[in-house]
Amino acid sequence: MTTTHLMPNYARQPIVFTKGSGVYLWDSNGEKYLDVLSGVAVCALGHAHPTLSAAIADQAATLIHTSNHYGIELQSQLADKLANLSGMETAFFCNSGAEANEAAIKLARYWGNSQSIENPKVIVMEGSFHGRTMGALSATGNTKIQKGFEPLLQGFIRVSYNNIEEIQNLTSDKSIVAILVEPVQGEGGVNIPSTGYLQKLREICNQNNWLLMLDEVQTGIGRTGKWFAFQHENIMPDVMCLAKGLGGGVPIGACLATGKVAQTLQAGTHGSTFGGNPLACRAALTVIDVIEKQGICEHVEKMGLRFLNGFRAELKGISNVKEIRAKGLMVGIELDRPCAELVKLALKEHLLINVTADKTIRLLPPLIINETQVDEIIQILSPLIRKFLSE
Ligand SMILES: Cc1ncc(COP(=O)(O)O)c(C=O)c1O
Repeated sequence: MTTTHLMPNYARQPIVFTKGSGVYLWDSNGEKYLDVLSGVAVCALGHAHPTLSAAIADQAATLIHTSNHYGIELQSQLADKLANLSGMETAFFCNSGAEANEAAIKLARYWGNSQSIENPKVIVMEGSFHGRTMGALSATGNTKIQKGFEPLLQGFIRVSYNNIEEIQNLTSDKSIVAILVEPVQGEGGVNIPSTGYLQKLREICNQNNWLLMLDEVQTGIGRTGKWFAFQHENIMPDVMCLAKGLGGGVPIGACLATGKVAQTLQAGTHGSTFGGNPLACRAALTVIDVIEKQGICEHVEKMGLRFLNGFRAELKGISNVKEIRAKGLMVGIELDRPCAELVKLALKEHLLINVTADKTIRLLPPLIINETQVDEIIQILSPLIRKFLSE
């Protein structure tokens, strides 16, 4: 592959995929691979899902784009559907996770300013990832990827993830308007907070008139075994961001709001040229329909447990394996050392995996993965991990 005219901002694997089907991809030499990454939690229904492909083709032949200068029937339908599934009231559509978070940050600031709160601030977490645009990057808790892009946006206060006390210590700061948090940190290393964490955050937000804003870009749309990860804790956020799995590979993001902030972003306050166009909304409606009709959320919960139990059995007693964790099909195996090398070793075995936060092997397979494929992944990956740790 020639890269002369591409900016060198990605460290790509030396492989090009030309077609896919279900959980499998084929490279330009016709070699078959098992995809345990799903385009980083995007291809929820796997590759070339016949229902999704047909819906996209049909929509492309009917109407792709008109702009938000006009009504968009499919956008209204998608907003209704997401509202029904989540209990949220209103949606703004954009094209990516970063943009969904930008909308959330703008909404929080606008809401704060409308109450005469000077320089409204948002509490964000260490180890978080919210995207690469300037606002989302500034909210992100990773100095490595912020370095060189200063000045970062002001107005964020950072605390440790899964730590309630640090937030309680901030409640006298009257400029705070919101908490922005991932229900499970994905890029940060598949970090699953203690049970009750979101409930406690909800309580603190209620007591202080702060917004609870959940970045469900990675956890949303069935990835953790519920439509949205907050549903594991029976709470409601005020704002929720979605993207990744929502369009099954067609770019779409969403920022949902409810209650006192459902109507905050009035005409002229925010927008997107492409956001929520007919093609993207048709894709998202189809993804949701398939997940719903096939009971995929329950399936995800089962497959996640199968991974967890399988890896725990295979890697039992290896002290260099620090922890194996999973919330639905967000699976993390944390080692005691950097292990990016394992991505290459797995690729040789025709397995596509990811390593994040240096030491955590991360698996994000398509939600439609079956038991045989889960077992196959465990059987291929476990010996690789054992060998890697013994060298
Ligand atoms: C939790 C979370 N938020 C936001 C983003 C950014 O999404 P995008 O790359 O679509 O801008 C990501 C991407 O990995 C993510 O995991």
